[in-house]
Amino acid sequence: MYTQGLDQKGQANVSEIESPEQLAAFQARIDAEEKIEAKDWMPAAYRRTLIRQISQHAHSEIIGMQPEGNWLTRAPSLQRKAILLAKVQDEAGHGLYLYSAAETLGVSRDEMVQGLLDGKAKYSSIFNYPTLNWADIGAIGWLVDGAAIMNQIPLCRCSYGPYARAMIRVCKEESFHQRQGFDIMHKLCNGTDDQKAMAQDALNRWWWPSLMMFGPGDADSKHSAQSMAWKIKRFSNDELRQKFVDVTVPQAEFLGLRVPDDALVLDEESGHYRFGEIDWQEFHDVLAGNGPCNAQRMERRRSAHDDNAWVRDAARAYADKQSAKAVA
Ligand SMILES: [Fe+2]
Ligand SMILES: [Fe+2]
Repeated sequence: MYTQGLDQKGQANVSEIESPEQLAAFQARIDAEEKIEAKDWMPAAYRRTLIRQISQHAHSEIIGMQPEGNWLTRAPSLQRKAILLAKVQDEAGHGLYLYSAAETLGVSRDEMVQGLLDGKAKYSSIFNYPTLNWADIGAIGWLVDGAAIMNQIPLCRCSYGPYARAMIRVCKEESFHQRQGFDIMHKLCNGTDDQKAMAQDALNRWWWPSLMMFGPGDADSKHSAQSMAWKIKRFSNDELRQKFVDVTVPQAEFLGLRVPDDALVLDEESGHYRFGEIDWQEFHDVLAGNGPCNAQRMERRRSAHDDNAWVRDAARAYADKQSAKAVA
């Protein structure tokens, strides 16, 4: 038996007696590439890891709507506005699938949302950077959604069934997001000198934070080894970052843009790009809440939650009425 809930750090609280036989049988299922389903036995730490990862992922989708939502009213054409609106709505949908996937592990959506509102749960740091001009919308789609795809395609094969299945649709939508971002950059790079300069400026600001999205280097990544053994994670942070660089640098060249890294060089022998040192101090500062927009993002999320309390009340009242009718 296990008891669940979120403790003060927003971590799932799960206590259970686990025998070595149970743990070995579980690992054998993982090694055989079986999917673990919601009602299957699983180690408490596996459940806790997934609750943390999936809820952080859900929060990131929801907070991630803000930097781009900021440009919905200022998109340069009706067509760009319609595309951006669809993209931002997709991100809301991703958040909802992911909250549902996490709920199958025994945590409630209310608890997860409260963890975010209380500042106890994390979300992806990339969304704490500002969107200063329209080219940022292009750079986000191209780089941020591009990095998200690198991270999320392997999650379609994650050992936990509900998470893996949610990722299949999410990845299809992410690929549309990446394409629309690249298309914005392409238009700007083939426009006036000023437009091309805007695109370059956006790349300059978003390149390094995008590389940080893959998380700390393998030597400093505390959850990686266990997550790989459980097949929640299929590639290490550094492997995914390298894949992203290898795919993205030629795209920047095609656009005629310069990647802001003097150390960037193609290693002919391995076929991989070597790149400069990431500013990990900046990464840790933003993670600790001191990025350019952390306070604003949380303030907006809290006020949206409060302003929309009536929607939750109305939905609850309607559900009560329906269940009363069903009983009568
Ligand atoms: Fe998304
Ligand atoms: Fe996306």
